[in-house]
Amino acid sequence: MSNFILGIESSCDDTSAAVLKGTEILSNVIANQHIHAEYGGVVPELASRAHQQNIIPVIDSALKRANITKDQLSAIAYTNGPGLLGSLLIGSSFAKAMAWSLDIPLIEVDHLQSHVLAIFADKPGVTKDKPRFPFLSLTVSGGHTRLLRVTDYFEMELLGGTIDDAAGETFDKAAKIMGLPYPGGPVIDKLAKEGNPARFKFSIANLPGLQYSFSGLKTSFLYFVRDQLKENPNFIQENLADLAASMQSAIITSLTKKMELAIQQYDCKDIVLAGGVSANSGLRTAMQTLADQYHRHLHLPSLDLTTDNAAMIAIFGYYKFINSEFSSINSAPYSSAKL
Ligand code: KG4
Ligand code: ZN
Repeated sequence: MSNFILGIESSCDDTSAAVLKGTEILSNVIANQHIHAEYGGVVPELASRAHQQNIIPVIDSALKRANITKDQLSAIAYTNGPGLLGSLLIGSSFAKAMAWSLDIPLIEVDHLQSHVLAIFADKPGVTKDKPRFPFLSLTVSGGHTRLLRVTDYFEMELLGGTIDDAAGETFDKAAKIMGLPYPGGPVIDKLAKEGNPARFKFSIANLPGLQYSFSGLKTSFLYFVRDQLKENPNFIQENLADLAASMQSAIITSLTKKMELAIQQYDCKDIVLAGGVSANSGLRTAMQTLADQYHRHLHLPSLDLTTDNAAMIAIFGYYKFINSEFSSINSAPYSSAKL
């Protein structure tokens, strides 16, 4: 008999619901909250309110697009953390009430592990190679930068991470400095395609081991732009593409450097990129070059599975479901990463 898992994601500023049949995505509906753009970042209270407004229509639409009714669902998986507590509470309360009323299992999942497992979700009619365990994963999102060794669906060893800002946050802050809208990553990615990445040099941290640091890079970018503006008030507008390309290149160099070290240290044949920043075209190309150089197999999630979405929640839910790992209705959301 087929399993239909409903996934619910509400950890930050996207309300999303997805239905999977086994590992196949039948629907993956995402309501983005554009309201945060005018504030240059996510406003937690506004995010919770928007989740409240979006959650019923989003779930309704995910069920309709999957062409099933709620009574056909086998289980409900939801993000229990990490994330904004007010936002998590909307998704988790809804998931609990819905699973309770349908008398089906409730499955809590971790948002960060779900980003990694997104690579295992199938698009209808598309066959692709799946990563082989153990593999290396770089999860790069708005709030996290984590290098992991993944030994199975449930076991992930943290090899290194950022000691300050995350890679996505660095893109977003650089965009803000240039007066570009939030989220900055996609905007910088687009502008960088027209710019010269070697035009400006920004300082890249060189921490020992597999640790990352982006705060020095962010400050170096801020001071450089501020000094140039004193000489020429139009500096940003006149050099926008080169600034974007040079900053993007510095972030990518930092990310690939540590991945190269991890490749040398750990005997893993496969590499998986995950998280919103893994949508970055420059990062995807640079990681492919690195993987080819070391004869590793790079697995890139499709673009709609890089940023926050509920299909990644549902695929983790599916693996927990077949393992009979269910959650209690008393489980409380958490704000910080567990690993
Ligand atoms: O994974 P995600 O949707 O949310 C978190 O869990 O944080 O990641 C959002 C982050 C934002 O910082 C956004 O600027 C960045 O991913 N991002 C990108 C691109 N698309 C999204 N960064 C660089 N290039 C992109 N194309
Ligand atoms: Zn995320």
